[in-house]
Amino acid sequence: MKKFRVRLIFLILCMFFNGSLSKLERLEHPVTKSDGSLNILVVGDWGRQGGFNQSLVAHQMGIVGKQLDIDFVISVGDNFYDDGLKGDTDPAFEASFSRIYTHPSLQKQWYSVLGNHDYRGNVSAQLSHALTQKDWRWFCRRSFVLCSGMVEFFFVDTNPFVDEYFTDPEDHTYDWSNVLPRDKYISSLLHDLDLEMKKSRATWKFVVGHHGIKTAGQHGVTQELVDQLLPILEENKVDLYINGHDHCLQHIGSDGEIQFLTSGGGSKAWRGVILPWDPKELKLYYDGQGFMSLHITHSQVKFIYYDISGNVLHQSTLPKKSKTFGSIKRLFI
Ligand SMILES: *[C@@H]1O[C@H](CO)[C@@H](O)[C@H](O)[C@H]1NC(C)=O
Ligand SMILES: *[C@@H]1O[C@H](CO)[C@@H](O)[C@H](O)[C@H]1NC(C)=O
Repeated sequence: MKKFRVRLIFLILCMFFNGSLSKLERLEHPVTKSDGSLNILVVGDWGRQGGFNQSLVAHQMGIVGKQLDIDFVISVGDNFYDDGLKGDTDPAFEASFSRIYTHPSLQKQWYSVLGNHDYRGNVSAQLSHALTQKDWRWFCRRSFVLCSGMVEFFFVDTNPFVDEYFTDPEDHTYDWSNVLPRDKYISSLLHDLDLEMKKSRATWKFVVGHHGIKTAGQHGVTQELVDQLLPILEENKVDLYINGHDHCLQHIGSDGEIQFLTSGGGSKAWRGVILPWDPKELKLYYDGQGFMSLHITHSQVKFIYYDISGNVLHQSTLPKKSKTFGSIKRLFI
């Protein structure tokens, strides 16, 4: 008995010391459709108390959300402009969220990450349980893993990666509490993500962050993410990277590679900026308002981009080249 206890303690210590434990919160969203499929809406860069057509985008999200019988909504950050929330009693929460996304079809869980504008306010307010008590749909964390049937979503806090916010903050103040020391925060986040992805047995691996990795939008490529995050996504054969930050709708991708989807058209858009990008990769660039939907099945994921009137701007299907599927098929032939 004593020997066993010593061995157990030794084992636990080993796990700590070789860092094989991840500190990322994991949660599960139950699958309700009998075929196991999932329908999701993605919106970003939205919280302007209804202004800049936020309300019109919300209205169309409601209509499309009903047609698709969505399971949940993903927000890719910049939830509250210009400077996040002041505290958990900030009326902007109701004015930009609860009283805007009122359509019955949008009364689903919202999973959110933080954008740079959110970091200009009080971050702990957006993460606080008090908001969830006001509106049960609200769920926001820095980084977390969401499992839903055949999909694992890796939500990543991309803000601390961006050098500019530390070296040249342009009169803005960022709430870096619980982030510093920065190097340690980033290395532990990357380590945990890699670990969770390696552990994952999900059919699909999607990554959600605020900043773009591949984008022809105004902000351009986030080089820090290309250098530090992208290699982990490639190594772990992630299917999609979804972001906001650029106020546009965009699809960049090549066959057999990670697809890069931007859904940052939740309110203020129309910036008239497009940076050069290989036209063979750039499948959609629309600098107006709108949002995106994802339809996920075992064999494919289909993504559709909608403008402010609900018109489909672009759609694309990514097939799953599954090894197990192939070998099962071979068994029967
Ligand atoms: C809002 O959308 C309409 C199209 O429905 C467009 O004409 C108008 O310019 C948009 N307003 C803003 C502030 O983007
Ligand atoms: C940030 O928000 C939390 C939760 O509302 C609050 O307890 C805290 O005092 C706020 N911090 C500042 C600096 O206002």
